Amino acid sequence: MRVVVVGIGADGWDGLGGPARRELLGATEIYGSRRQLDLLDAEVDAGLIAWHSPMSQHLGEVLAGSADREIHVLASGDPTYYGVGSTIIESIGAEHVTIIPAVSSVTLACARLGWDQVSTPVESLLEKSVLPTLAQRKAGDRMLFLSRDAATAGSIAEALRQSGFADSRMWVLNDLGGPDELIQSSTAQDWRGNAASSLNIVGVVFSGGFDWSRGEWVPYVAGTPRPDRFTNDGQITKQPMRAITVSALGRVAEPTLLWDVGAGSGSIGIDWLRTNPRGRAVAFESHPERREFVAANAEHHGVADRIDIKGPVPESFARVPAPDRIFIGGGLTAELLDDCLERLAAGGRLVANAVTLESETILMAAYAEHGGELQRIQWETAGSLGRRSGWEPRRTIMQWTVEP
Ligand SMILES: C[S@@+](CC[C@H](N)C(=O)[O-])C[C@H]1O[C@@H](n2cnc3c(N)ncnc32)[C@H](O)[C@@H]1O
Repeated sequence: MRVVVVGIGADGWDGLGGPARRELLGATEIYGSRRQLDLLDAEVDAGLIAWHSPMSQHLGEVLAGSADREIHVLASGDPTYYGVGSTIIESIGAEHVTIIPAVSSVTLACARLGWDQVSTPVESLLEKSVLPTLAQRKAGDRMLFLSRDAATAGSIAEALRQSGFADSRMWVLNDLGGPDELIQSSTAQDWRGNAASSLNIVGVVFSGGFDWSRGEWVPYVAGTPRPDRFTNDGQITKQPMRAITVSALGRVAEPTLLWDVGAGSGSIGIDWLRTNPRGRAVAFESHPERREFVAANAEHHGVADRIDIKGPVPESFARVPAPDRIFIGGGLTAELLDDCLERLAAGGRLVANAVTLESETILMAAYAEHGGELQRIQWETAGSLGRRSGWEPRRTIMQWTVEP
């Protein structure tokens, strides 16, 4: 079997180069979607076969055909970019496939928007939802989304609105390169309805800020004040403490492993992963229900593939590699602290938070023995006081940071 995959853009036959045209004019059988086959010149003399649904099954049957056969397959744009070219190579091997690429839709979108391709991340929404990665974006970032259909732009706008990015500008780039090319532009706030065409790419420049009405910061900042976004049962480090704690654990350029001991809702480990793209974390939590919270929260914040969830400590420690960072948020005992200090990798850092007299005593003793930095953080939140308002003290937290 020999397969020649020819990329074709929305500009159809006009946009094809000499080699692509010669291939198609000399072909005996050409497979493609009905839309793509309709773009071919009348001079093409081959049998034209439209994929039937499901396409993957039809393609599989065709590729299983006889060894000395040669077929041509049309692909949109660049066949090895989220395209059928890659599927075919994976199935029968690159030595049996010739690819003749056309310009990819992403190249066209960057050309239209004047964006540098190297620094513009692309995310495919052909098969997944947009929400998880939004949590990692910050104001000023830009991004392209490959749409599944005309409704995708609406779900992107909705997700942006829900994530504090309602002011972001969106461009919906339809039928790029073709006679019906149309670029729609709107803020996420104002976008309503569907894209003009099912063939579209969405560009976004993220914009968001402190939303005073909801008391929310731009996502991505460590410790974003959105406990509502972390499913929890009250066992959650509140936002200001989360920001201080994630900052104490630090940002690290190289791959780094964090243990989040007594993870609760997992918010510390998750926020730390969001500020450390090359980090991995293990969340230790003895309550099965809270382990489910950690899993759901990790999924929601787009870090599920970088976090492992384990059960009670110290039993579970032995089954995971030594960490570069340890955070102890709950269940502090002198034995647990000693155990953690021993297991910390060379050059590592441990941060422990305490709110009870008992755990504060342990941290003070540890500070006396090992040094490091010991601090107490007091904070208050405004709230109602009878018919007026006043400051409400929150629990003072003692935090010990050490690089033993
Ligand atoms: C399966 S991917 C294939 C990408 C293709 N291999 C390429 O290089 O452009 C399909 C995605 O590209 C988008 N797309 C393809 N052609 C397009 C065009 N002419 N204008 C806008 N979007 C296009 C589709 O809407 C979809 O999101």
